[in-house]
Amino acid sequence: MMYWTTITLFGLAGPVAALIRFQCSQLVVERLDPLVTPGQVPSPHVHQIVGGNSFNATMNPDKDMPGESTCTTCQFSEDFSNYWTAVLYFKSRNGTYQRVPQRSNAGFEGTTGGGMTVYYMQDPLYDTAQKSKVSAFKPGFRMFVGDVNARTKQEAARFRQLTYTCMENAGSREHETVSFPTHVCPYGIMTSVRFPTCWDGKNLDSPDHMAHMSYPESGTFESAGPCPATHPVRTSQVMYEVIWDTSKYNIKEDWPEDGTQPFVWSFGDETGYANHGDYVFGWKNDALQNILDTSCYAQSCGGKQQNIAAMNKCAGIPKTVIEDIGEGTWLVELPGDHRSEESRH
Ligand SMILES: *[C@@H]1O[C@H](CO)[C@@H](O)[C@H](O)[C@H]1NC(C)=O
Ligand SMILES: *[C@@H]1O[C@H](CO)[C@@H](O)[C@H](O)[C@H]1NC(C)=O
Repeated sequence: MMYWTTITLFGLAGPVAALIRFQCSQLVVERLDPLVTPGQVPSPHVHQIVGGNSFNATMNPDKDMPGESTCTTCQFSEDFSNYWTAVLYFKSRNGTYQRVPQRSNAGFEGTTGGGMTVYYMQDPLYDTAQKSKVSAFKPGFRMFVGDVNARTKQEAARFRQLTYTCMENAGSREHETVSFPTHVCPYGIMTSVRFPTCWDGKNLDSPDHMAHMSYPESGTFESAGPCPATHPVRTSQVMYEVIWDTSKYNIKEDWPEDGTQPFVWSFGDETGYANHGDYVFGWKNDALQNILDTSCYAQSCGGKQQNIAAMNKCAGIPKTVIEDIGEGTWLVELPGDHRSEESRH
């Protein structure tokens, strides 16, 4: 499969494909969500956040993020955007929870807290030319994808490409599923979050943080399907890859006796159908557009870049919410009074 080949060569043997792909170290892990619950301290569930260090509970759309951040945990040093997802917990047989650590993608070892890999794609990952014209996002732009309340395949069906990969090794990319893998994944579980790629051209945000964006009218992003008239502006596809290092929890004797899988999102979802991601744009000036206007690949995409040591130096900002989030400890319930639901079988 070409996707596999591209990633393998790209990640492990140097760049051959044409796309923006970079790693970010962990900025902070805590209960804040300036997009969905701005100003609320703490937010309902735990997130892991990367990007510019001006991240906080408020973050008004008129806030000049590039101007307020003094550093970023991402490799492109002019990218002060914030990217975040929920975090994964392991539920033990006695009902207690522990946060599953993260690991970086191959080739980016040493990033604090594992962090995540971010992509901005003009064309699908396996298209090495990356020539389509796409617009960068505007200052103040933000978006969300997924449904925190989805617990069935049907409820998750309106989203494309919010997936899991059960990783045998660092290069595993095949057999993506929309619910949690049901068996042991030796290297870990990768979460992939892909945002829609058609913008209405007017609104920087919308009440559900999704309505200003759309999937192509027909076909898919991968098949270069046209954007609908309501959302005519073709943007790059933003994708996150987060690897949950489940290796500590791969002992089958510790898994539920009824044969179900033991992982649960920080908001209580045991199915995986509620996979979601948050994005707040914050590239400085035209830095993103300039890169998107060149056919290029990752580290050779120009722009200003920093090394992992500099990314890590920006990581670990002071927490606003001080609480035990189960990093090495065992919690009686998930932070925010969530209990995982009974699996629906
Ligand atoms: C968030 O940052 C803004 C702008 O820097 C600041 O005015 C505000 O007080 C901060 N809010 C919190 C909760 O830290
Ligand atoms: C619950 O299970 C975990 C993992 O097996 C264990 O470390 C912990 O001590 C247990 N806690 C209680 C209260 O039994």
